[in-house]
Amino acid sequence: MQKTFSRATCLTRDIFRFQPTTITRRIHLEASRLARSKPPPLAFVFDIDGVLLQGPNVLPAAKRTLSLLDGDNPLGMKIPYILLTNGGGLSERDRCEKLTKQLGVQISSSQYIQAHTILRNLSQKYSDQPVLVLGGKLDAVRQVAEGYGFKKAYTTTDVLAWNSSVWPYRKASLAELEIAKSIDFSQTRVSAVFVFHDPQDWALDVQILCDVIQSNGFIGGPYVSPEQQIKEPIELVFCNPDLLWRSNFERPRLGQGAFKEAFQAVYKALTGSTYPYVQYGKPTAATYKFAATVLTDHVKEIYGSGELPHVYMVGDNPESDIAGANAADWSSILVRTGVFDPQQGPPSHKPTYLANDVEAAVKWAIDRELAKGL
Ligand code: G3P
Ligand code: MG
Repeated sequence: MQKTFSRATCLTRDIFRFQPTTITRRIHLEASRLARSKPPPLAFVFDIDGVLLQGPNVLPAAKRTLSLLDGDNPLGMKIPYILLTNGGGLSERDRCEKLTKQLGVQISSSQYIQAHTILRNLSQKYSDQPVLVLGGKLDAVRQVAEGYGFKKAYTTTDVLAWNSSVWPYRKASLAELEIAKSIDFSQTRVSAVFVFHDPQDWALDVQILCDVIQSNGFIGGPYVSPEQQIKEPIELVFCNPDLLWRSNFERPRLGQGAFKEAFQAVYKALTGSTYPYVQYGKPTAATYKFAATVLTDHVKEIYGSGELPHVYMVGDNPESDIAGANAADWSSILVRTGVFDPQQGPPSHKPTYLANDVEAAVKWAIDRELAKGL
């Protein structure tokens, strides 16, 4: 008697034989069908902290919402979206792997922007020059910087490992010593400082930042006058202006913007002036312009062509998410799961809509587009 094999067995058998199977054929069919079809009338840009995550915790509405965008929605279409965060500290690839596991949907690097992604375009200018990179755990941001093309990226713990008297309050830990890159910072001029991610040791980082600036890049070297420091500045770049952000503690936490305020306060006390700097991250126009190009490319990736549909930004921070989206002429939706606390009064920047969470935000936007008539 002829043995009948179940569909699953056939597929598994084919997979093990690596023959082109129904699965691949179906994926190709779906991709070419999408490539022929018109993009939907809207696309989303999602903030992460306070919208999809609260620290290590995934917000329940997040998973439901992202799978809804995959096609199971009133438009019956795959609705494009990217993630735009002021967070960072890992490579885009590593963070996407982590997010894919946390959110249960595939997040690819082509739909993900973090605070320092924009620096990829800046590395050319400093590729062969010694620069200081701040923030994140151990030398994670050095590895990110090297991945962007900064060949001589050093951290403040490299400086501490070089000469522990640079900060008499603590010694470099074993873990820090193991990964430290040793150069003589009194002989090697640091030509720029990039604050990639939220500094972990504010005190050490403020000290080293002041040392680099006051000694014209040669740590421990003779001071140059404050006028000189400002006239020919060591370039200082911050990637995230957030004073506050939402983790898994009841109240918002201090962010990289607070570190910047702390540095400027110390620098002012030392020199009487504020140090010039370049700011990236939401709400800066540079970051929103960059996000628009990434989203346009992602829509093309899914639909083969097409203009950028109407963009809806979903965020928890009026200062960064809503201010930036409004300035970019996008629709902005403020959610109540993050920094913004309605009990503190109206938001500093008026959103197009205020929603309880990301799911309510997405449903409102889709209904709004449906009401406009397709
Ligand atoms: O450090 C990250 C924080 O400032 C905010 O992240 O995802 O809310 O933009 P996000
Ligand atoms: Mg946020």
